[in-house]
Amino acid sequence: MKTSTIILCAVVVLLVSLVGGECARIVTQACEPSGKARGRKPPPGQCNTENDSDCCKQGKLYPVYKCSPQVTSNTKAVLTINSFEKGGDGGGPSECDNQYHSDDVPIVALSTGWFNHRQRCFNNITIHGNGRSVVAMVVDECDSTAGCDNEHDYQPPCPNNIVDASKAVWKALGVSESDWGDLDITWSDA
Ligand SMILES: *[C@@H]1O[C@H](CO)[C@@H](O)[C@H](O)[C@H]1NC(C)=O
Ligand SMILES: *[C@@H]1O[C@H](CO)[C@@H](O)[C@H](O)[C@H]1NC(C)=O
Repeated sequence: MKTSTIILCAVVVLLVSLVGGECARIVTQACEPSGKARGRKPPPGQCNTENDSDCCKQGKLYPVYKCSPQVTSNTKAVLTINSFEKGGDGGGPSECDNQYHSDDVPIVALSTGWFNHRQRCFNNITIHGNGRSVVAMVVDECDSTAGCDNEHDYQPPCPNNIVDASKAVWKALGVSESDWGDLDITWSDA
């Protein structure tokens, strides 16, 4: 084979792999971290662990995200538990309306990418888990973009695939109270 032919082949192979990789990235809508938050030791009295909240570990790096995986009719997520009441572990009032909400109502906070600059505020989503489903309203953001600081009660940034739900959601899914915490679910816009 002529050298020029080998070079041409090499260029073609390189282009095909570059284009292929780019296509795969677009198709899978990869959501990569936008940076990292470094854990700082909470000052005394900060980071209340009463209801299983985690505190940042000093020196540990936590990925932060501005995006979440693409929403489909069957979006995979992890269901966590949150209190939306005053004095609960959810911090301040909800992002959508600056109000506290009863934990007896099925409501959720979504990771930043899914919260999508308040675009999902007051929308209902259908959550499937534990063989059941429940419709819940979006009222808050689970901040994936920052954490480990005073504003976030020294808790880590939210992962990018979280549906952080009131206890009413956990009850509706029929999960026994001792198992409330982390559950693999799917959700879609209702
Ligand atoms: C923990 O949960 C209980 C029951 O929901 C609530 O009364 C209490 O205020 C919570 N504590 C914190 C620190 O969030
Ligand atoms: C979501 O559901 C609640 C309760 O059923 C309802 O009041 C509300 O209007 C619904 N939101 C939207 C955007 O459809």
